[in-house]
Amino acid sequence: MDVLRIQGGATLNGTVQVSGAKNACLPVFAATLLTAEPVIIENVPDLSDIRFMAEILRSLGADVTNDAPGRWCVTAKNIVSKAPYELVRKMRASVCLMGPLIGRMKGCDVSMPGGCVIGPRPIDLHLKGFRKIGCEITVEGGYMHVDATNAKGTHVFLGGRFGSTVTGTANLLMAAVLTPGTTRLESAACEPEIPDLCEMLIKMGARIWGVGSHSLVIEGVKSLHGCTHRVIPDRIEAGTYVIGAAMTGGDVVVRGIPSHYLGALIDKMELAGVPVESPNADTLFVRGSARKPAPVDVVTMPHPGFPTDLQAQMCAMLALTPGLSIVTEKIYPNRFMHVPELQRMGADIAIEGPSAIINGRNRLSGAPVMASDLRASAALVLAGLAADGETWIQRIYHLDRGYEKLDDKFRQLGANIERLHESKMPKGMLED
Ligand code: EPZ
Repeated sequence: MDVLRIQGGATLNGTVQVSGAKNACLPVFAATLLTAEPVIIENVPDLSDIRFMAEILRSLGADVTNDAPGRWCVTAKNIVSKAPYELVRKMRASVCLMGPLIGRMKGCDVSMPGGCVIGPRPIDLHLKGFRKIGCEITVEGGYMHVDATNAKGTHVFLGGRFGSTVTGTANLLMAAVLTPGTTRLESAACEPEIPDLCEMLIKMGARIWGVGSHSLVIEGVKSLHGCTHRVIPDRIEAGTYVIGAAMTGGDVVVRGIPSHYLGALIDKMELAGVPVESPNADTLFVRGSARKPAPVDVVTMPHPGFPTDLQAQMCAMLALTPGLSIVTEKIYPNRFMHVPELQRMGADIAIEGPSAIINGRNRLSGAPVMASDLRASAALVLAGLAADGETWIQRIYHLDRGYEKLDDKFRQLGANIERLHESKMPKGMLED
């Protein structure tokens, strides 16, 4: 397995291009099941999650090819409606296969998704929505058996105790576009990945109103046709570079990201005293050299609030920001696996319920650390870049799920980072 070795202390400077968004691709790939015609998807990042989603679509009978870098073609001509446990359990986002199978096949058998290190990942809101439009759902042997022969459009409230649900909204959208009648989704998620999915569905012939709002109206149609769709850029990848520039005191141009995708982060950076300008429609210029960040408080919320997927990265920055900061996680209250690893690097953080109380230090020291999930891994990379000395990060397969060539991109910005085989780790460091 690979590991990352980082020699801290370099300042990040230069220009970095943002890749396509993993979290836009997964529902977009699922939506290809809604038509028997070919669908071309462009700007797809080269990630293990994407390759895995392709495998799941193939297991359903779709023809899936990656005929050029970033470009995939899916033709779901003759498909089955059973998604097997051995595949679904490996990636919970595959739950968003339910919607298109309900729409196209009027039913499905999908394994219940497994757990996740960032906390419980229930799908009660997905199932509540499907039942509301008339699906009969039974759970047997770990599979959800859905019969949607009598489904028809109606009013669905999708909000839960943590606010809206992103993949829940995607799932109901993909069911409703081919369900007779009119469906209204209230308290729908409006993360940028949802309008992106709506745009693709409309190109396929779907009838959707309220795109970008918390209230979506869908008029079911009989069938959908193929299209070509270019997925949006990855706002979480972009935000990771913004935070990296601030942490290392460098000036970084982040290309290919509209500033309105990161309004909450930009606001926090400016409160911290780090200027983030947008010289044009899809570029951010972070002037980390202007000053060290000041401590700030962060609360994660559904979009347009501060994204939970940048919470770990923000903790890394605030661990190196002298003064008291409080980071409160409202979406996944247990999402603090990065904290014990940051503490190994000298971070002074105490967890109090859903909050991390951070007493920022002047320095962190490099150390061997363990990645635990996608965004926690990114936080450890950032901490390693800004720490004194050498950091080794194991289990970086977590990182490869959601960041395309992150080590290469940081190296292009001047970081001293390399990907090595685990056998190169100093004796005694390798996890047993
Ligand atoms: C999406 O997950 C993203 N994943 C997550 O990114 C992201 O953290 C999350 O949205 C929140 O923005 C993908 O898009 C593939 P939710 P999703 O349904 O859709 C609760 C990453 O690192 N909830 O919006 O699964 C849920 O427990 C990943 O890229 C219910 O209670 O998240 C959570 O507390 C991690 N019942 C909150 O709502 C449900 O039926 C938001 O979940 C569904 C969700």
